[in-house]
Amino acid sequence: MNKKTIYVLGILGITTISLLACFVYIQSGESARSDAKTKIEYVIGVSQPNLHEPWQVLMNEELRNEVMKHNNIRVIYTDAAQSTDQQVEDIETLQKYGIDLLIVSVEDSSALTPVISKLYKDIPVIVLGRGVEGYNYTLYIGSDHYFIGSMAAESAIKLLGDKGGDIIEIQGLANALQAEERSKGFRETIQKERNIQITEHLVANWQRDKAEDELTRLLKQKDNPPELIYAHNDAMALGAYRAIESLQYDGVKIIGSDGVNKPKGGLQLVKEGTIDTTFITPTGGKQAVQYALDILEKNAEIPKKIILRNHEVTTNNYEQYINEEEKIVDSPTNDGQVVLGFAQVGSESQWRAAHTTSIVTAAEEAGVQLILKNANNNQTKQIEIIRSFIEQDVDIIAFSPKVEHGWEEVLQEAKDAGIPVILSDREIKVNDPSLWASFIGSDFVEEGRRAARWLVNDMETSDEEVQIIELEGTQNSAPAVDRKQGFKEVIQDFPNYKIIESLPGDFTLNKGKKMMEQALQSYGQEIDVVYAHNDDMAMGAIEAIENYGLKPGTDIKIISIDATIKAFKALSTGKLNFTVECNPLLGPQIMQAAKDLKEGKEIPMKIITSEETFTQEEAKKEMKKRSY
Ligand code: AHR
Repeated sequence: MNKKTIYVLGILGITTISLLACFVYIQSGESARSDAKTKIEYVIGVSQPNLHEPWQVLMNEELRNEVMKHNNIRVIYTDAAQSTDQQVEDIETLQKYGIDLLIVSVEDSSALTPVISKLYKDIPVIVLGRGVEGYNYTLYIGSDHYFIGSMAAESAIKLLGDKGGDIIEIQGLANALQAEERSKGFRETIQKERNIQITEHLVANWQRDKAEDELTRLLKQKDNPPELIYAHNDAMALGAYRAIESLQYDGVKIIGSDGVNKPKGGLQLVKEGTIDTTFITPTGGKQAVQYALDILEKNAEIPKKIILRNHEVTTNNYEQYINEEEKIVDSPTNDGQVVLGFAQVGSESQWRAAHTTSIVTAAEEAGVQLILKNANNNQTKQIEIIRSFIEQDVDIIAFSPKVEHGWEEVLQEAKDAGIPVILSDREIKVNDPSLWASFIGSDFVEEGRRAARWLVNDMETSDEEVQIIELEGTQNSAPAVDRKQGFKEVIQDFPNYKIIESLPGDFTLNKGKKMMEQALQSYGQEIDVVYAHNDDMAMGAIEAIENYGLKPGTDIKIISIDATIKAFKALSTGKLNFTVECNPLLGPQIMQAAKDLKEGKEIPMKIITSEETFTQEEAKKEMKKRSY
């Protein structure tokens, strides 16, 4: 990087000339500016879609405040002033200047996805605040936009009450992932209500004035205003308010999103009663700079997604929200060692053994007092363990939920006792998302898609019809439900791929073997492929296939999930064909989250781990590195 020091100075010399087309700002950390000899080790490019929206301005401020703290980085900011073409050009220009890493926030995800995918082959890319399609980036930091949309719908249902009513939705941008997801989350949740209808849908490009104009035009054509307006951001919610006010309509409820705490920002609008509800949508600017350094310095395991938590703020809970925020800033609590109660689900797989070891080791290393109990794959027992932790008044509870449903009661008890809960590796389905503080684990749906993508794209097959046996994990558990869904999503577009039977293998070798014996008895040589939701069941299937007199990996192809050492060995001997990684080494992140929670810090709602896939060839190379 020494060459970079000189190079950066070169960049600084030519920046104003070459980047005239876009708006550029160059910043170094505080001490780098005061000490001419300080070495700039890394140059980071920041590509902003605009610095016009209050939320985007706040993101930039947060980025800049954090950059000030690091004296070894220099940051080149570009502002595309709401032009997608300009943003594409900005990114290409930044790359030509030799940036080490790009932080990019996108407005138009469909146009920017290919550009980011291409750049990601050369340098790390952090996608900030608004996502792009697929997984071709290093890290995404931001909200779950589907979740924001569905929370907005819940809020609308509360505001409209029993009478229900009509809603006009004002979407951010057409074909932009974040806007589409907010819309989907909103619509799918509203659909369940019989007396509420979304009657009109406008697109106002996230802009206040466009929202005001479009809504005014629409309302002038209508006899009556709607009962409620849902705008995808606060700026458009303010535009909607202005339209309603100038047409002198009363009582129309307005929901926005962003919650910026600045004049004309969502929080202020709620405080004044201009709009009814906003959703605090953290920009992630600070975390982006911190993770950028971790990526560049290679000093930490980098997750794939950091999903930040959103809060609903209404005219009713505004004061309470502000007071709680102030409490967090003013009085972080850190009194002594963290006591963590971990309710492990069971010992069903090699993956689970690695997961348990990771938790024990990480607790020792982090100085966390760990109380570890095993529920032996029994939900009632797992609930009892959680209750015992509540009675012991531990600081934090973490658990790997056996199944998705049935946790409300015990988690409400934990919440009432003031004990935050971390979900490890498996998500749950509860109506109130405040019942858990954070989820740390994988994207199981994507794992299922990856398994299927390899099957349809890369596996050589002579048959026209490909008959698949699916070995499912624990019924109603998140990994079993999601891996099934992801796999199905991909193969449904290929009619010659057929799941002829799905059998419950409980994530264990023995049950996997038993189910495979049953499948072989029913279908024998008609089976082309086994898709096992984990490696242990695949190992069981391999034994059953060999006992039946066929060659696993050749006569019947086998795909599994987890990528444990056993799978690597089976891949290298040709008995397994493909495995999708699921990372069990979650201990360090769980300990960090437990410590942060004890200090009263807000932590990400979800931390999704970064994972790979392995073919037989790749497994041979990677096998030595595998620790579990
Ligand atoms: O929740 C993660 C899953 O649980 C693993 O993929 C499986 O092997 C385990 O038992």
